[in-house]
Amino acid sequence: MSLHLNPLHAELAVEVSGINLRKPLGKETLAELQSALARYPVLVFHDQDLSDDEHAVFTKSFGPIDPGLALASKRKQRLKNTDVIDLANIDADGNVLAADNARNVSLIANQLWHSDSSFKQPRAQYSVLCGIDLPGEGGETEFADQRAAYDALPDTTKTRIEGLVAEHWAFHSRNMLGGGDFTPEGMAMLPPVDWPIVDTIPESGRKTLFIGVHTREIRGLPTAEARMLLLDLLEHATQREFVYRHVWRNHDVVMWDNRCTLHRGRPYDLTKLRELRRCTTEYLAA
Ligand code: OGA
Ligand code: MN
Repeated sequence: MSLHLNPLHAELAVEVSGINLRKPLGKETLAELQSALARYPVLVFHDQDLSDDEHAVFTKSFGPIDPGLALASKRKQRLKNTDVIDLANIDADGNVLAADNARNVSLIANQLWHSDSSFKQPRAQYSVLCGIDLPGEGGETEFADQRAAYDALPDTTKTRIEGLVAEHWAFHSRNMLGGGDFTPEGMAMLPPVDWPIVDTIPESGRKTLFIGVHTREIRGLPTAEARMLLLDLLEHATQREFVYRHVWRNHDVVMWDNRCTLHRGRPYDLTKLRELRRCTTEYLAA
């Protein structure tokens, strides 16, 4: 099979056609997708109406599944397939959640720039997000190219951050938003982890920033200095020139490399249904 690639934003995002994600991937197609991802870390597919099982099978072609925050959540799973993370703003009966429902904290936390599971060891490699039912207005998803952001840093900053290690904590963002629906025991299962601020992607050899809203300390720096540096880097790394904004159509699938992109959802009317589902793979080489 030969995929057709139609670039959407610089070397960040590309629309991929000529593939049906419901079908098992042959070796050749998998290799083509992997080489597309090495160049463009955000792939967009249209008209892919995947079942949860098909979604999980496709994702597992790229590595073992990362269960994300499921470990720490006391919420009853709505979906049968536990490989699939439910991102719908609805309760078990299918009703849209009240705006002040504690679960909305986690969904709104996705509107802060982040890399999935950067707070875990292992962290995430690829995420595959299926858009099922999107509100007519708002609720887009943005992606920021952290390789381009790194390349554009002044040399003095590159020198300053080389070798620095940041602490990532899952609940930093939730605390910022007023707390979520996690128990102390659940939170204890996800202690903070450390990752270098500058990383190299093996497939492309490109250097990348690795930051985002889960970072709360830098080893060896006072908290205030660390947080200011992290905020400055984040501001730099999410300038519009580095950002692709995905405007969803139902049955779009967007796949991205969490090692070298940040992403965030955009606000929407919380009384409207917004249903997406995500599967993510673990980065075992890290
Ligand atoms: C995610 C995520 C953003 C969105 O699925 O990991 O951050 O737009 N989603 O819902
Ligand atoms: Mn995310």
